[in-house]
Amino acid sequence: MKILVVFYSRTGNTRIVAEEIRNGLDCDIEEIIDKQKRSGILGYWRSVYDAIRKKETVLEKIKNDPEDFDLLIIGTPVWNRNVSVPIRTYITQNHAKFNKLAFFCTATGPNFEGAIKGITELSNMSPIATLGIRAKEIKDRSYQSKIQEFVKAVQ
Ligand SMILES: Cc1cc2nc3c(=O)[nH]c(=O)nc-3n(C[C@H](O)[C@H](O)[C@H](O)COP(=O)(O)O)c2cc1C
Repeated sequence: MKILVVFYSRTGNTRIVAEEIRNGLDCDIEEIIDKQKRSGILGYWRSVYDAIRKKETVLEKIKNDPEDFDLLIIGTPVWNRNVSVPIRTYITQNHAKFNKLAFFCTATGPNFEGAIKGITELSNMSPIATLGIRAKEIKDRSYQSKIQEFVKAVQ
């Protein structure tokens, strides 16, 4: 089975989880790059504003065609109880080419349901597996068993 992990990360948490999943599955990985600057305090508030308004953004050209993969694993930080703006844009532009979908997200708080509902509605598909990890679980490295479970579930 050909698998691609696609993720967006503003401050690195989602990247850590994406790379662990890629290592567990030995599959391809692609980072989504937003042309909009989102670093620093100004970038943070722009992201809050864009997330509340469910805006889309301009992405750098993607390298992999999702149609070439049996399973696409999408990862995002939770923004305003939903997927991030760059991942919203990626899904809107590409969902017609998704074969099978799995989903993971990172958040400060314990609620991942909004983002799972968000990806399900945007892609019009139910993910075969979902994973939510809190920023503090990444910090104290207590997230590994959850990733192992997720990796098992998608295989
Ligand atoms: C614009 C914005 C909105 C956010 N909204 C939420 C939220 O609704 N719930 C939550 O638990 N965390 C929220 N967060 C925190 C991030 O989801 C969390 O820090 C995440 O792990 C960051 O991932 P990253 O380092 O890959 O960018 C928000 C962060 C940003 C920048």
